[in-house]
Amino acid sequence: MTLTELLFAPVQLGNLRLPNRVVMAPMTRSHSPGGVPTAEVAAYYARRAANGVGLIITEGVLVEDEAAAGYPDCPHLYGDAALAGWGRVIEAVHAAGGRIMPQIWHVGETHRLGADPCPHIAGLGPSEVVEDGKVVVRAMTEADVARLVAAFAAAARNAQRIGFDGVEIHGAHGYLVDQFLWEHTNRRADGYGGNFANRLRFAVEIVRAVREAVGEGFPIVFRYSQWKPQDYQARLADTPEQLEKLLLPLREAGVDIFHASNRRYQDPEFPGSELNLAGWSKRITGCPAITVGSIGLDDPSWTMANPTGIDPLLERLARREFDLVAVGRALLADHAWARKIREGRLAEVTPYTKAALNRLD
Ligand SMILES: Cc1cc2nc3c(=O)[nH]c(=O)nc-3n(C[C@H](O)[C@H](O)[C@H](O)COP(=O)(O)O)c2cc1C
Repeated sequence: MTLTELLFAPVQLGNLRLPNRVVMAPMTRSHSPGGVPTAEVAAYYARRAANGVGLIITEGVLVEDEAAAGYPDCPHLYGDAALAGWGRVIEAVHAAGGRIMPQIWHVGETHRLGADPCPHIAGLGPSEVVEDGKVVVRAMTEADVARLVAAFAAAARNAQRIGFDGVEIHGAHGYLVDQFLWEHTNRRADGYGGNFANRLRFAVEIVRAVREAVGEGFPIVFRYSQWKPQDYQARLADTPEQLEKLLLPLREAGVDIFHASNRRYQDPEFPGSELNLAGWSKRITGCPAITVGSIGLDDPSWTMANPTGIDPLLERLARREFDLVAVGRALLADHAWARKIREGRLAEVTPYTKAALNRLD
């Protein structure tokens, strides 16, 4: 089998059977007015599946909470209209031969009182944020914690009921779950703050509740990152031992697959080893891992990046450092990216420019 054939061969990961190892990375598109994904959104995802993406992880999809959103026109994972819309997306992706999971999301303190899309509502986060003498983010009470844990579980149950192939919990990039993990945003003094195990508790409770809601056998992916949008150098774990303290309790709670978000997959995570964050996730937990970050592009910038070949990535895949490879901007710029890579047509891949951020083609 050639390296490219390995990428495009079917794969079984626990209960998840995929047509190949190419994953579309979750990307917020803001094209679902009223929280309802449209026919255009269904066609956008189905086009990627028809062109060789094995698994689509959708854009962040909101749990039911009035403070969950931080951007306009993001889809919901609750309510009859949104779920019917997702039903049409799932049908279209399955008909094109792909698999699809929603990324379950709450932005936490990223939303502030006075900001769109819900200016009259304060954000919710692990700790209070005051700006100009106003509480713009309210610190979550234990009742809020319990309510939002239940909201993640309800979203996952909805996802399973309408035919998604699994769920991804958004624990990355400085949003709510990650805000609890990171000491900079979590300044609580109760059982959800302070030491590392306490900061991890919210995430563990969510995973456990999601597992209870969907039962055994339904795939749960957990996405996490060291970096935050406001601090690319931020770290949750400085050593493999610390990473173990993060990941093993999540695995015990019910995570099947770890999705380790890097800005560049090539970056080694800890000194003395080539392994990236996905590689370490797999080594520590024994669970399958998804890698991501500048795959097929020469730069992590959102302004522009040029197509590159992926041979070094495939060599690492062949060594089983990770199991799946997630592609973001390259698939925004060119819906046929996977097909062109499979057919050796790199020269025909459309370069990424920021114009792709506003398109849904
Ligand atoms: C427009 C855009 C929206 C994104 N939205 C999300 C999101 O909703 N959830 C998430 O976990 N990551 C999100 N990301 C990050 C991507 O999933 C991915 O990790 C990142 O773009 C790096 O991969 P790439 O270099 O292949 O683009 C977004 C990225 C872009 C470009």
